[in-house]
Amino acid sequence: MLRLAALAGLLFSGPVLAHGGLSNYTVGETWYRGYDPDTPAENQLGQPWMVQRQWASIDPIFSVDDKSIACNNPGTAPPSYIPIRAGDNITAVYWYWLHPVGPMTAWLARCETDCSDVDVNAVGWFKIWEAGLLSGPNLAEGMWYQKQFQRWDGSPALWPVTIPATLRPGLYMIRHEILSIHIDNRPQFYPECAHLNITGDGDAFPPAEYLLRFPGAYDKDDPSIKIDIYSEENMHTTNYTIPGGPIWDGFGVVDKYCLGC
Ligand SMILES: *[C@@H]1O[C@H](CO)[C@@H](O)[C@H](O)[C@H]1NC(C)=O
Ligand SMILES: *[C@@H]1O[C@H](CO)[C@@H](O)[C@H](O)[C@H]1NC(C)=O
Ligand SMILES: *[C@@H]1O[C@H](CO)[C@@H](O)[C@H](O)[C@H]1NC(C)=O
Ligand SMILES: *[C@@H]1O[C@H](CO)[C@@H](O)[C@H](O)[C@H]1NC(C)=O
Repeated sequence: MLRLAALAGLLFSGPVLAHGGLSNYTVGETWYRGYDPDTPAENQLGQPWMVQRQWASIDPIFSVDDKSIACNNPGTAPPSYIPIRAGDNITAVYWYWLHPVGPMTAWLARCETDCSDVDVNAVGWFKIWEAGLLSGPNLAEGMWYQKQFQRWDGSPALWPVTIPATLRPGLYMIRHEILSIHIDNRPQFYPECAHLNITGDGDAFPPAEYLLRFPGAYDKDDPSIKIDIYSEENMHTTNYTIPGGPIWDGFGVVDKYCLGC
C-alpha cells in the first residue's frame, strides 16, 4: 500500500491529470504499464513494456464522429501484449477520476495478426461489460458506477472486467470507455485501448450484429448521449439506456472476425 500511495502522489501532481485517465492494467498480481501522460511520447513509443495505445490527449473527445473515439489514439500502437486467460479479470487502474455521471463500458476487438497493424477505426468492437446508473432518485442525483469510481484521495480507482470465458483465444484489443454526461448536451468520451494476448479453450465469437465500428457505434442524437440530465423529465426518471447495444453473452461461433469482409 505504501508503494501505491507513493506512486499515486507522483502521478497525482501532474497537471495533465485534470480529468484522470487509465494508467495501468493488472491481471492477478501482475502490473502492466500503460501510457504515462507525464512522459513525452517519443520517450515511450517502442518501449517493450508498452501495452496501451498512446493518448492523443487527456482531454475528452466531444464528437461521436471523431476518429479518436476508438482509442484516443494519434496513430501509434504499443509493441506488447498483456497475457490473460479467457475467464480472468483485467483491472484498469486510474489514479484519479473526476467525473461522476454517465456510463462506463468495455469492449474487445480481434486482431487478425499483430494488433500494432490494426486500424482501430475499421475493426469490429464488441461490448463485454457495462455499468450505468446503480440507484436513484434520478439521473442527476443518483448513484452511478462512475461516481463510485471517482477518487479524490489519491488511492487507485479499480475497474475490473472479465474476459468472456468462452472467447476464442488470440490477439485482441481491449477498449475502456468512460462517457461523462454532467454537462447538458455536451457528452465527453474518454476511451483507452491496450493489447491483449488471450489464451483459453473457447471457440466462441460474437455474431456480426455485435460488431461495431468507432466512429459508427454511436449516434450523436442518441437520447443517452445528447442528454440534459438536469431537464425536468430527467429529474423524475431513473431510466437510462447505455449506448452501444447489448453486451455479448459469450455464445456464438463464427468464422469471420472482420466487418464487411
Ligand atoms: C503505472 O503506470 C505508470 C505510467 O505508465 C508507470 O509509471 C508506473 O510504473 C506503473 N505502475 C506500476 C506499479 O507498474
Ligand atoms: C472480476 O470482475 C467482476 C466485475 O466485472 C467482479 O464482480 C469480480 O469480483 C472480479 N473477480 C475477481 C476475482 O476480482
Ligand atoms: C501469445 O501467447 C501465446 C501463448 O502463451 C504465445 O505462444 C504467443 O507467442 C503470444 N503472442 C504474442 C504476440 O505475444
Ligand atoms: C427513458 O425512457 C423513455 C421512454 O421509454 C425514452 O424515450 C428515453 O429515451 C429514455 N431515456 C434514456 C436516457 O434512456
